[in-house]
Amino acid sequence: MKIYLAPMEGVVDWVIRDIYSRIGGYDEMVSEFVRVTTQLNPPKVFHRYVPELKTDGKTLAGTPVYVQLLGGDPICVAENAALACELGSLGIDLNFGCPAKTVNRHDGGAALLQRPRRLYDMITAVKNAVPEHIPVCAKIRLGYNDKTLVNEIAKAVSESQAHRLIVHARTKKEGYKPPAHWEFIAKIKEDCPNLPVIANGDIWTVEDYKRCLKITGCKDIALGRPAMAMPDLALQIKGQAKQFSHDFIEKELLPSFITSSANFKDNKYAVRRTKQWVKLLGRTYPYYTELFHKVKLCQNMEDLKKIISF
Ligand SMILES: Cc1cc2nc3c(=O)[nH]c(=O)nc-3n(C[C@H](O)[C@H](O)[C@H](O)COP(=O)(O)O)c2cc1C
Repeated sequence: MKIYLAPMEGVVDWVIRDIYSRIGGYDEMVSEFVRVTTQLNPPKVFHRYVPELKTDGKTLAGTPVYVQLLGGDPICVAENAALACELGSLGIDLNFGCPAKTVNRHDGGAALLQRPRRLYDMITAVKNAVPEHIPVCAKIRLGYNDKTLVNEIAKAVSESQAHRLIVHARTKKEGYKPPAHWEFIAKIKEDCPNLPVIANGDIWTVEDYKRCLKITGCKDIALGRPAMAMPDLALQIKGQAKQFSHDFIEKELLPSFITSSANFKDNKYAVRRTKQWVKLLGRTYPYYTELFHKVKLCQNMEDLKKIISF
């Protein structure tokens, strides 16, 4: 069984990937997306989003991190993918799920799901541009406004011989509204028997994982928000941990996160990101819902220090 840390723009940055890799349980991770418009991004852009390129494409604790690309033009995305590999990326992850209006308006992310053939063209172009041993992977939603094209979408990915497909079991229109429709993943698996399919969406607990497995038939999963809400969820699913105490998170994980975020960018970034993580932790721990009410008022690091010791 493999567990992937799902990409989350503005959340799963280098700092989180480093911490989660040290916590353990995750077999692979994906970077924040590198946006591809009409040009080849310079190497510094790749290094900014994916500092792991300077450490053999892996986190410091050794988890592979694939470069995520987002764009609508196959030739341009393929050129950027080739450069990412030259810079040391161990794999490429193509984003066909982003629901953001600006991204979709500029022909990227979930917008491509409206014409499944475009996924085939994109994946094929990227596969042709990168060395043969590089895995080219895709991540989709079940459709744009509805699920009528879901089988065509999956077949396009399968025919392109993508290395694997992560399915976030909702349409773009459904946003993040529960529930995730895991039963559609089962159908995709049935229709595309040669395509490794990874289930994603609303796997918040070990019990959810067991239900998801039963419904989808997938053994591999990707965790996004639930990973942030429960830092050892992957370990729990693998039967290697019990739930971390809130005390452990506050004394061990948050201080290292705050310091590392400040070093990675600056204090303002660290304060903003801490508010974000504490809020997400509140989904699992009532303690963090309480803490969030205090943390959200912090204007700077000095304010934050009065609440969390680091
Ligand atoms: C803040 C945020 C940012 C996201 N950014 C990306 C992204 O860059 N690429 C992508 O493919 N999916 C992205 N997603 C979708 C997640 O990878 C995942 O599919 C979704 O959150 C459902 O899974 P979950 O219930 O485990 O969170 C994002 C989701 C969130 C909440």
